[in-house]
Amino acid sequence: MFPTTRPRRLRRSGVLRDLVRETRLAPADFVYPLFVKHGKGVRDPIGSMPGQFHFSPDTLVEEVGAAREDGVKAVLLFGLPERKDATGSEAWDDGGAVQVAVRALKAAYDDVLVVTDVCLCEYTSHGHCGVIEAGAVKNDPSLELLARAAVSHARAGADIVAPSDMMDGRVGAIREALDGSGHEDIAILSYAAKYASAFYGPFREAAGSAPQFGDRRGYQMDPANTDEALREVALDLEEGADIVMVKPALAYLDVVLRVKDAFGVPVAAYNVSGEYSMLLAAAERGWIDRERAILESLTSIKRAGASIILTYFAREAARLLR
Ligand code: PBG
Repeated sequence: MFPTTRPRRLRRSGVLRDLVRETRLAPADFVYPLFVKHGKGVRDPIGSMPGQFHFSPDTLVEEVGAAREDGVKAVLLFGLPERKDATGSEAWDDGGAVQVAVRALKAAYDDVLVVTDVCLCEYTSHGHCGVIEAGAVKNDPSLELLARAAVSHARAGADIVAPSDMMDGRVGAIREALDGSGHEDIAILSYAAKYASAFYGPFREAAGSAPQFGDRRGYQMDPANTDEALREVALDLEEGADIVMVKPALAYLDVVLRVKDAFGVPVAAYNVSGEYSMLLAAAERGWIDRERAILESLTSIKRAGASIILTYFAREAARLLR
Protein backbone atom coordinates (compact mmCIF):
# COMPACT_ATOMS: atom_id res chain seq x y z
CA MET A 1 0.00 0.00 0.00
CA PHE A 2 1.02 3.61 -0.49
CA PRO A 3 3.39 5.07 0.74
CA THR A 4 5.41 1.80 0.90
CA THR A 5 4.44 0.90 -2.63
CA ARG A 6 5.14 3.51 -5.29
CA PRO A 7 4.74 2.22 -8.88
CA ARG A 8 6.40 5.38 -10.14
CA ARG A 9 9.78 4.12 -8.82
CA LEU A 10 10.04 1.88 -11.88
CA ARG A 11 9.24 4.66 -14.32
CA ARG A 12 12.08 6.99 -13.40
CA SER A 13 14.35 6.48 -16.40
CA GLY A 14 14.34 5.08 -19.89
CA VAL A 15 16.76 2.29 -18.95
CA LEU A 16 14.57 1.24 -16.07
CA ARG A 17 11.41 1.39 -18.16
CA ASP A 18 13.13 -0.80 -20.76
CA LEU A 19 13.99 -3.37 -18.08
CA VAL A 20 10.41 -3.74 -16.88
CA ARG A 21 8.73 -3.50 -20.28
CA GLU A 22 6.38 -6.45 -20.80
CA THR A 23 5.84 -6.23 -24.55
CA ARG A 24 8.54 -5.72 -27.13
CA LEU A 25 7.83 -4.97 -30.74
CA ALA A 26 10.37 -6.09 -33.31
CA PRO A 27 10.61 -5.90 -37.11
CA ALA A 28 10.36 -9.70 -37.09
CA ASP A 29 6.74 -9.36 -35.90
CA PHE A 30 5.61 -7.61 -39.06
CA VAL A 31 4.14 -8.73 -42.34
CA TYR A 32 4.07 -6.01 -44.99
CA PRO A 33 1.01 -6.06 -47.31
CA LEU A 34 1.68 -5.05 -50.92
CA PHE A 35 -0.41 -4.62 -54.07
CA VAL A 36 0.87 -5.98 -57.35
CA LYS A 37 -0.37 -5.55 -60.88
CA HIS A 38 0.86 -6.41 -64.36
CA GLY A 39 3.40 -4.29 -66.17
CA LYS A 40 6.86 -2.86 -65.75
CA GLY A 41 8.20 0.11 -63.85
CA VAL A 42 4.82 0.74 -62.18
CA ARG A 43 4.75 2.59 -58.85
CA ASP A 44 1.33 4.24 -58.76
CA PRO A 45 0.34 5.94 -55.50
CA ILE A 46 -2.89 4.66 -53.90
CA GLY A 47 -4.97 7.77 -53.19
CA SER A 48 -6.79 6.40 -50.15
CA MET A 49 -3.58 5.08 -48.56
CA PRO A 50 -0.81 7.70 -48.60
CA GLY A 51 2.63 6.09 -48.85
CA GLN A 52 1.27 2.86 -50.39
CA PHE A 53 1.56 1.98 -54.08
CA HIS A 54 0.51 -0.36 -56.83
CA PHE A 55 3.69 -2.10 -57.96
CA SER A 56 4.53 -4.17 -60.98
CA PRO A 57 6.57 -7.31 -60.27
CA ASP A 58 9.91 -5.55 -60.98
CA THR A 59 9.28 -2.53 -58.73
CA LEU A 60 7.80 -4.87 -56.13
CA VAL A 61 11.11 -6.70 -56.00
CA GLU A 62 12.83 -3.33 -55.33
CA GLU A 63 10.32 -2.40 -52.64
CA VAL A 64 10.74 -5.75 -50.91
CA GLY A 65 14.52 -5.31 -51.12
CA ALA A 66 14.15 -1.97 -49.33
CA ALA A 67 11.82 -3.51 -46.74
CA ARG A 68 14.39 -6.22 -46.17
CA GLU A 69 17.02 -3.55 -45.50
CA ASP A 70 14.64 -2.11 -42.91
CA GLY A 71 14.41 -5.54 -41.28
CA VAL A 72 11.03 -6.60 -42.66
CA LYS A 73 11.30 -9.99 -44.30
CA ALA A 74 7.69 -11.13 -44.58
CA VAL A 75 5.25 -9.80 -47.15
CA LEU A 76 1.59 -10.39 -48.04
CA LEU A 77 0.65 -9.99 -51.69
CA PHE A 78 -2.66 -8.83 -53.17
CA GLY A 79 -3.15 -9.00 -56.92
CA LEU A 80 -4.89 -6.70 -59.36
CA PRO A 81 -5.97 -8.59 -62.44
CA GLU A 82 -5.83 -7.59 -66.09
CA ARG A 83 -9.38 -8.77 -66.58
CA LYS A 84 -12.29 -9.52 -64.27
CA ASP A 85 -15.00 -12.09 -64.89
CA ALA A 86 -17.86 -13.78 -63.09
CA THR A 87 -15.72 -16.49 -61.48
CA GLY A 88 -12.53 -14.47 -60.99
CA SER A 89 -10.51 -16.82 -63.17
CA GLU A 90 -7.33 -14.77 -63.09
CA ALA A 91 -7.03 -15.71 -59.41
CA TRP A 92 -5.72 -19.15 -60.40
CA ASP A 93 -3.90 -18.11 -63.59
CA ASP A 94 -0.23 -19.12 -63.33
CA GLY A 95 0.52 -15.93 -65.29
CA GLY A 96 -1.44 -13.72 -62.87
CA ALA A 97 0.24 -10.69 -61.28
CA VAL A 98 0.62 -12.41 -57.89
CA GLN A 99 2.06 -15.57 -59.39
CA VAL A 100 4.56 -13.61 -61.53
CA ALA A 101 5.53 -11.49 -58.51
CA VAL A 102 6.03 -14.51 -56.25
CA ARG A 103 8.37 -16.10 -58.76
CA ALA A 104 10.31 -12.83 -59.12
CA LEU A 105 10.63 -12.42 -55.35
CA LYS A 106 11.75 -15.99 -54.86
CA ALA A 107 14.34 -15.59 -57.63
CA ALA A 108 15.65 -12.36 -56.08
CA TYR A 109 15.78 -13.24 -52.36
CA ASP A 110 16.22 -16.48 -50.48
CA ASP A 111 15.30 -15.04 -47.08
CA VAL A 112 11.95 -13.39 -47.77
CA LEU A 113 8.76 -15.10 -46.61
CA VAL A 114 5.98 -14.71 -49.13
CA VAL A 115 2.36 -14.91 -48.03
CA THR A 116 -0.37 -14.60 -50.66
CA ASP A 117 -3.92 -13.44 -50.07
CA VAL A 118 -6.34 -15.99 -51.49
CA CYS A 119 -9.68 -14.47 -52.43
CA LEU A 120 -11.86 -13.85 -55.45
CA CYS A 121 -13.11 -10.31 -54.82
CA GLU A 122 -10.25 -8.56 -56.64
CA TYR A 123 -10.83 -10.83 -59.62
CA THR A 124 -14.60 -11.03 -59.96
CA SER A 125 -16.60 -8.55 -62.02
CA HIS A 126 -19.18 -8.32 -59.19
CA GLY A 127 -16.54 -7.80 -56.48
CA HIS A 128 -17.76 -10.53 -54.14
CA CYS A 129 -15.47 -13.08 -52.52
CA GLY A 130 -17.32 -16.08 -53.97
CA VAL A 131 -19.35 -17.04 -57.02
CA ILE A 132 -22.83 -15.64 -57.51
CA GLU A 133 -25.87 -17.73 -58.30
CA ALA A 134 -29.37 -16.21 -58.38
CA GLY A 135 -28.06 -13.02 -56.80
CA ALA A 136 -26.47 -14.78 -53.82
CA VAL A 137 -22.85 -15.56 -52.94
CA LYS A 138 -22.74 -19.36 -53.09
CA ASN A 139 -20.49 -21.10 -50.63
CA ASP A 140 -19.71 -24.58 -51.91
CA PRO A 141 -19.01 -23.81 -55.59
CA SER A 142 -16.56 -21.11 -54.43
CA LEU A 143 -14.40 -23.59 -52.51
CA GLU A 144 -13.03 -25.32 -55.57
CA LEU A 145 -12.03 -21.97 -57.11
CA LEU A 146 -10.32 -20.75 -53.95
CA ALA A 147 -8.43 -24.02 -53.74
CA ARG A 148 -7.28 -23.62 -57.34
CA ALA A 149 -5.97 -20.13 -56.54
CA ALA A 150 -4.10 -21.41 -53.48
CA VAL A 151 -2.48 -24.23 -55.45
CA SER A 152 -1.45 -21.80 -58.18
CA HIS A 153 0.19 -19.54 -55.57
CA ALA A 154 1.98 -22.53 -54.04
CA ARG A 155 3.17 -23.62 -57.49
CA ALA A 156 4.64 -20.13 -57.98
CA GLY A 157 6.58 -20.52 -54.73
CA ALA A 158 4.44 -18.93 -52.00
CA ASP A 159 5.40 -20.03 -48.48
CA ILE A 160 2.01 -19.40 -46.91
CA VAL A 161 -1.45 -18.96 -48.41
CA ALA A 162 -3.95 -16.74 -46.61
CA PRO A 163 -7.62 -17.24 -47.50
CA SER A 164 -9.60 -14.05 -46.75
CA ASP A 165 -12.97 -14.90 -48.29
CA MET A 166 -14.80 -16.28 -45.21
CA MET A 167 -16.56 -19.08 -47.11
CA ASP A 168 -17.32 -22.04 -44.82
CA GLY A 169 -15.02 -25.00 -45.32
CA ARG A 170 -12.41 -23.22 -47.40
CA VAL A 171 -9.47 -24.04 -45.14
CA GLY A 172 -10.22 -27.74 -45.44
CA ALA A 173 -10.72 -27.50 -49.20
CA ILE A 174 -7.43 -25.61 -49.59
CA ARG A 175 -5.52 -28.01 -47.30
CA GLU A 176 -6.77 -30.97 -49.29
CA ALA A 177 -5.89 -29.36 -52.62
CA LEU A 178 -2.41 -28.36 -51.43
CA ASP A 179 -1.72 -31.85 -50.08
CA GLY A 180 -3.07 -33.43 -53.23
CA SER A 181 -0.67 -31.41 -55.39
CA GLY A 182 2.53 -32.05 -53.42
CA HIS A 183 2.39 -28.83 -51.38
CA GLU A 184 1.97 -30.38 -47.96
CA ASP A 185 4.65 -28.04 -46.53
CA ILE A 186 2.83 -24.86 -47.51
CA ALA A 187 1.15 -23.34 -44.46
CA ILE A 188 -2.31 -21.81 -44.21
CA LEU A 189 -2.83 -18.51 -42.43
CA SER A 190 -6.60 -18.22 -42.29
CA TYR A 191 -8.47 -14.98 -41.91
CA ALA A 192 -10.46 -16.90 -39.31
CA ALA A 193 -12.31 -14.09 -37.56
CA LYS A 194 -12.80 -11.52 -40.26
CA TYR A 195 -15.43 -8.93 -39.51
CA ALA A 196 -17.65 -7.01 -41.93
CA SER A 197 -15.86 -3.76 -41.18
CA ALA A 198 -16.02 -0.13 -42.28
CA PHE A 199 -12.26 -0.02 -41.72
CA TYR A 200 -11.62 -1.79 -45.05
CA GLY A 201 -12.76 1.35 -46.88
CA PRO A 202 -9.38 2.53 -48.21
CA PHE A 203 -8.41 -1.03 -49.25
CA ARG A 204 -11.32 -1.36 -51.61
CA GLU A 205 -9.87 1.47 -53.68
CA ALA A 206 -6.39 -0.06 -53.39
CA ALA A 207 -7.55 -3.48 -54.57
CA GLY A 208 -10.43 -2.36 -56.77
CA SER A 209 -12.60 -4.83 -54.90
CA ALA A 210 -15.70 -2.93 -53.82
CA PRO A 211 -18.78 -5.16 -54.21
CA GLN A 212 -20.90 -4.00 -57.15
CA PHE A 213 -24.10 -4.77 -55.23
CA GLY A 214 -24.91 -5.46 -51.59
CA ASP A 215 -22.20 -5.86 -48.97
CA ARG A 216 -20.16 -8.61 -47.33
CA ARG A 217 -22.32 -9.16 -44.26
CA GLY A 218 -23.59 -12.45 -45.64
CA TYR A 219 -20.15 -13.99 -45.17
CA GLN A 220 -17.99 -11.74 -42.98
CA MET A 221 -18.71 -11.61 -39.25
CA ASP A 222 -20.96 -9.27 -37.31
CA PRO A 223 -18.77 -6.80 -35.33
CA ALA A 224 -20.90 -7.46 -32.24
CA ASN A 225 -19.82 -11.11 -31.83
CA THR A 226 -16.88 -12.76 -30.05
CA ASP A 227 -18.13 -16.25 -29.10
CA GLU A 228 -18.71 -16.72 -32.80
CA ALA A 229 -15.08 -15.75 -33.46
CA LEU A 230 -13.97 -18.61 -31.22
CA ARG A 231 -16.20 -21.02 -33.15
CA GLU A 232 -14.76 -19.76 -36.45
CA VAL A 233 -11.21 -20.21 -35.18
CA ALA A 234 -11.97 -23.70 -33.86
CA LEU A 235 -13.36 -24.74 -37.23
CA ASP A 236 -10.38 -23.37 -39.15
CA LEU A 237 -7.94 -25.14 -36.84
CA GLU A 238 -9.84 -28.43 -37.26
CA GLU A 239 -9.68 -27.96 -41.02
CA GLY A 240 -5.92 -27.47 -40.90
CA ALA A 241 -5.13 -23.78 -40.40
CA ASP A 242 -1.59 -23.26 -39.08
CA ILE A 243 -2.03 -19.62 -38.06
CA VAL A 244 -5.31 -17.84 -37.39
CA MET A 245 -5.98 -14.18 -37.97
CA VAL A 246 -8.28 -11.64 -36.40
CA LYS A 247 -9.18 -8.72 -38.64
CA PRO A 248 -9.34 -5.74 -38.21
CA ALA A 249 -6.98 -5.41 -35.26
CA LEU A 250 -7.49 -2.28 -33.19
CA ALA A 251 -11.25 -2.42 -32.75
CA TYR A 252 -11.01 -6.18 -32.04
CA LEU A 253 -8.22 -6.53 -29.49
CA ASP A 254 -10.60 -8.33 -27.14
CA VAL A 255 -11.05 -10.97 -29.84
CA VAL A 256 -7.27 -11.30 -30.27
CA LEU A 257 -6.92 -11.85 -26.53
CA ARG A 258 -9.68 -14.44 -26.33
CA VAL A 259 -8.38 -16.37 -29.34
CA LYS A 260 -4.84 -16.42 -27.91
CA ASP A 261 -6.07 -17.55 -24.49
CA ALA A 262 -8.46 -20.17 -25.82
CA PHE A 263 -6.24 -21.87 -28.39
CA GLY A 264 -2.59 -21.04 -27.74
CA VAL A 265 -1.81 -21.18 -31.46
CA PRO A 266 0.02 -18.46 -33.41
CA VAL A 267 -2.36 -15.55 -33.76
CA ALA A 268 -2.05 -12.84 -36.40
CA ALA A 269 -3.89 -9.54 -36.43
CA TYR A 270 -4.41 -7.28 -39.43
CA ASN A 271 -3.91 -3.56 -38.83
CA VAL A 272 -6.14 -2.75 -41.80
CA SER A 273 -6.25 0.04 -44.35
CA GLY A 274 -8.72 2.19 -42.40
CA GLU A 275 -6.59 1.98 -39.27
CA TYR A 276 -3.62 3.07 -41.36
CA SER A 277 -5.24 5.93 -43.25
CA MET A 278 -7.12 7.23 -40.22
CA LEU A 279 -3.91 7.60 -38.23
CA LEU A 280 -2.12 9.25 -41.15
CA ALA A 281 -4.97 11.71 -41.74
CA ALA A 282 -4.95 12.81 -38.10
CA ALA A 283 -1.15 13.08 -38.06
CA GLU A 284 -1.19 15.11 -41.25
CA ARG A 285 -3.44 17.63 -39.52
CA GLY A 286 -1.10 17.75 -36.56
CA TRP A 287 -3.72 16.24 -34.28
CA ILE A 288 -1.62 13.27 -33.18
CA ASP A 289 2.08 12.41 -33.19
CA ARG A 290 2.54 10.06 -36.11
CA GLU A 291 5.48 8.03 -34.84
CA ARG A 292 4.24 7.59 -31.30
CA ALA A 293 0.75 6.68 -32.50
CA ILE A 294 2.15 4.05 -34.87
CA LEU A 295 4.25 2.35 -32.21
CA GLU A 296 1.51 2.59 -29.59
CA SER A 297 -1.05 1.00 -31.94
CA LEU A 298 1.26 -1.82 -32.95
CA THR A 299 2.35 -2.43 -29.35
CA SER A 300 -1.29 -2.74 -28.30
CA ILE A 301 -1.87 -5.40 -30.94
CA LYS A 302 1.10 -7.41 -29.74
CA ARG A 303 0.17 -6.88 -26.09
CA ALA A 304 -3.29 -8.30 -26.80
CA GLY A 305 -1.70 -11.55 -27.95
CA ALA A 306 -0.87 -11.32 -31.65
CA SER A 307 2.62 -12.56 -32.44
CA ILE A 308 2.18 -11.61 -36.10
CA ILE A 309 1.08 -8.13 -37.14
CA LEU A 310 0.10 -7.39 -40.72
CA THR A 311 0.60 -3.69 -41.19
CA TYR A 312 1.18 -1.09 -43.88
CA PHE A 313 3.39 0.62 -41.27
CA ALA A 314 5.82 -2.33 -41.33
CA ARG A 315 8.74 -0.48 -42.91
CA GLU A 316 8.28 2.76 -40.99
CA ALA A 317 7.79 0.96 -37.67
CA ALA A 318 10.84 -1.23 -38.29
CA ARG A 319 12.92 1.91 -38.90
CA LEU A 320 11.54 3.52 -35.74
CA LEU A 321 12.50 0.45 -33.73
CA ARG A 322 16.11 0.59 -34.88
C1 PBG B 1 -10.42 -9.30 -49.53
C2 PBG B 1 -9.70 -8.56 -48.49
C3 PBG B 1 -10.05 -7.33 -47.88
C4 PBG B 1 -8.99 -6.98 -47.06
C5 PBG B 1 -8.06 -8.00 -47.13
N1 PBG B 1 -8.52 -8.97 -48.01
C6 PBG B 1 -11.21 -6.46 -48.10
C7 PBG B 1 -12.56 -6.94 -47.80
O1 PBG B 1 -12.80 -8.03 -47.30
O2 PBG B 1 -13.48 -6.19 -48.13
C8 PBG B 1 -8.88 -5.72 -46.24
C9 PBG B 1 -7.50 -5.22 -45.98
C10 PBG B 1 -7.42 -3.84 -45.50
O3 PBG B 1 -8.42 -3.13 -45.31
O4 PBG B 1 -6.28 -3.38 -45.29
N2 PBG B 1 -11.31 -10.26 -49.12
